[in-house]
Amino acid sequence: MDSMTSEENLVDVRGLVKVYKPDVRALDGVDLGIRAGQIFALLGPNGAGKTTLMRILTTQLRPTAGRASIFGRDVVKKSAEVRTFIGYVPQEMSVWTDITGYENLLIYAKIYGLPAAGRKAQVWEALDSMGLAGFAKAMVNTYSGGMIRRLEVACALLIKPKIMFLDEPTIGLDPSARKAVWEKILTFKREFGTTVFFNTHYMDEADLYSDEIAIIDRGRVVKRGTAEELKRSIKRDVIRVGLGAGAQAGEKVLARLRALGSVTEAGAAGAELTVAVTDAESALPAVIDVLRDEALPIVRISATKPTLDDVFLAYAGSALQSGPDLREVRSIRRKIGQG
Ligand SMILES: Nc1ncnc2c1ncn2[C@@H]1O[C@H](COP(=O)(O)OP(=O)(O)O)[C@@H](O)[C@H]1O
Ligand SMILES: [Mg+2]
Repeated sequence: MDSMTSEENLVDVRGLVKVYKPDVRALDGVDLGIRAGQIFALLGPNGAGKTTLMRILTTQLRPTAGRASIFGRDVVKKSAEVRTFIGYVPQEMSVWTDITGYENLLIYAKIYGLPAAGRKAQVWEALDSMGLAGFAKAMVNTYSGGMIRRLEVACALLIKPKIMFLDEPTIGLDPSARKAVWEKILTFKREFGTTVFFNTHYMDEADLYSDEIAIIDRGRVVKRGTAEELKRSIKRDVIRVGLGAGAQAGEKVLARLRALGSVTEAGAAGAELTVAVTDAESALPAVIDVLRDEALPIVRISATKPTLDDVFLAYAGSALQSGPDLREVRSIRRKIGQG
């Protein structure tokens, strides 16, 4: 409990660089601090460097430059100690399919060196917390993809880690399986206070389940904040107004709207008026005032917030690919043995 960093970050990353031979700069100077108790999402497209960062943090890969520590322990110099308080579920499959779920956990319990006396109870506790107690004695090759993912998380839970690293925890799963995996992750996070660090290229997942998000692109963290903060930061809300039959917003109205402080653009197409604003809630009253003042009948009004994809576009200059890398999904599905 001695050497927490001054900022009290559970994970502390400074100037991290990773160059794969001969010259792939997978991480290009990453700085990141993560407080304990959070669910933290590292969001970025394929090839951004997410897995590389996670491999360094989980002590499997050495950085080329910079440093990283978890709970005040350097991941290179104190790697053995770091491994005692981290859980890790890799992107690729990490359980055996030709034995039961229970047997998988027992093997991991032995690998982790859990004392024989409490081993079985811990295995059952981990299975139970991931909703798998009823399937413990079934062969893993009869499990669904989502159950396999939960089994992998159960294995990583055995040591009651301070922090759980999940690399693309729901890649290739259908929406209901994704939801089930996340419900269980949220449960153990609440129960054990485990900090969760996950990689994803699914925007909705970062949006729904994280307390904070860092956007990574080409080996650099380009933006960091809560989903709300990120969306607000690009100041691109859109207000749409439907005007009554026959009504049309002319140039004079548009000019008045554009003159409002929070409005960045205003346009009209027939009876539909579109106003781009920095923040819909604060801009709405002024927009309505102008329309009333111009005696334009409002029949419908709606405001849309930007998505994380818009955020990504704003900070990384390219759209975040929403679908998974098909090659990765195929190879994972092949291993799982079902679609
Ligand atoms: N072992 C490796 N050798 C060479 N290049 C690699 C290796 N692993 C990853 N890369 C490259 O490093 C970059 C980052 O990869 P990765 O960390 O796997 O990204 P992500 O997990 O975000 O998809 C990519 O350009 C990838 O091709
Ligand atoms: Mg990856």
